[in-house]
Amino acid sequence: MTSYKLLLLPGDGIGPEVMAEVEKVVAWLGNAGLATFETEIDLVGGAAIDVHGKPLADATLAKADAADAILLGAVGGPKWNGVAYDIRPEAGLLRLRKELGLFANLRPAICYPALAEASALKPELVEGLDMMIVRELTGGVYFGEPKEITTLPDGSKRAVDTQVYTTAEIERIAHVAFDLARKRLGRVASAEKNNVMKTGVLWKEVVTRVHQEHYADVELEHVLADNCAMQLVRRPKQFDVLVTDNLFGDVLSDVAAMLTGSLGMLPSASLGAIDAKGTRKALYEPVHGSAPDIAGKGFANPIAMIGSLAMCLRYSFGLGVAADRVEAAITRTLASGARTRDIASEGTKVISTAEMGDAIVRELAA
Ligand code: NAI
Ligand code: MG
Repeated sequence: MTSYKLLLLPGDGIGPEVMAEVEKVVAWLGNAGLATFETEIDLVGGAAIDVHGKPLADATLAKADAADAILLGAVGGPKWNGVAYDIRPEAGLLRLRKELGLFANLRPAICYPALAEASALKPELVEGLDMMIVRELTGGVYFGEPKEITTLPDGSKRAVDTQVYTTAEIERIAHVAFDLARKRLGRVASAEKNNVMKTGVLWKEVVTRVHQEHYADVELEHVLADNCAMQLVRRPKQFDVLVTDNLFGDVLSDVAAMLTGSLGMLPSASLGAIDAKGTRKALYEPVHGSAPDIAGKGFANPIAMIGSLAMCLRYSFGLGVAADRVEAAITRTLASGARTRDIASEGTKVISTAEMGDAIVRELAA
């Protein structure tokens, strides 16, 4: 059986706490013969600053480059608030994404039946929700030049951000979305604002062409990004795969996230281009941060981190059966009533991070 090289970067705050639970699942998968891994663990973020003076050592980047996939916990925290901008903890994560060319950010919004009551929306609107947001991650207005604040003759200021997209950037993210849709319900919605933005015009044109040329079997719908925000709250279950740019994706994925309850439940994947060998760089991490307010207390929900491992099994290693198994174990664990503090309703018994990890491993084995 192939052995996969997995680099674990726990990071800061609750990162190491949730990573410890993923390690239990990784060990179980190995023992059960479902997948074998060679795991290595290294520092990122504040933890790396403390040792190396920077948030991502070159040696760590080299390991990340050589790994088949990377699992990252979270970075940052008040301890490093004073460090220079270029070496702040988040810069380590940004460098990883940039150096590995991780242009496609996949964020599923799944509503577990046991948690439908906890949603910000009516349970019937979200029960059974299972959508995937595909956000372009390395282009658009967060990176476009010029990007500056200048002082005008009258002493007031002028700030500029620039939204740039090229055909190639839009094509590759469109391929990711359509390929995913084929493995799901076969529907893609593409969100932009072609009514007021040139990048929106090009986005729509390129997505339409990629669809016509390669994915006639997939259903494509174009939606204006503002209307999309409305639809996400009004009738989220209409979506299967939603593809959009970096800025709209940032906002829309946070909206979708809140449909399903806690940040502690949400996994993500960031994928690079497929190389000549048919493999791709990939980093998997929970959507949440290092949660300094609850770090060290055993309150953290490890499900987002464990769900990120499930995505890794599915998208990096093609181990769909093992991924299904992990996800089913999470579903059953929640159905059994196990709740960390963030997803508990009043009067429910609350279990710790480690107890939640153990409960999921027990369900895996059941
Ligand atoms: P956060 O996601 O760390 O926390 C927001 C709230 O959600 C907190 O109340 C926290 O306790 C709760 N929460 C988060 N994850 C949870 C989990 N697994 N279980 C239970 N509750 C959970 O965001 P915040 O507070 O804005 O940022 C804290 C630090 O994390 C900052 O230094 C920030 O820069 C960093 N950060 C790092 C990210 C990353 O590594 N990808 C992403 C977002 C923030
Ligand atoms: Mg965000």
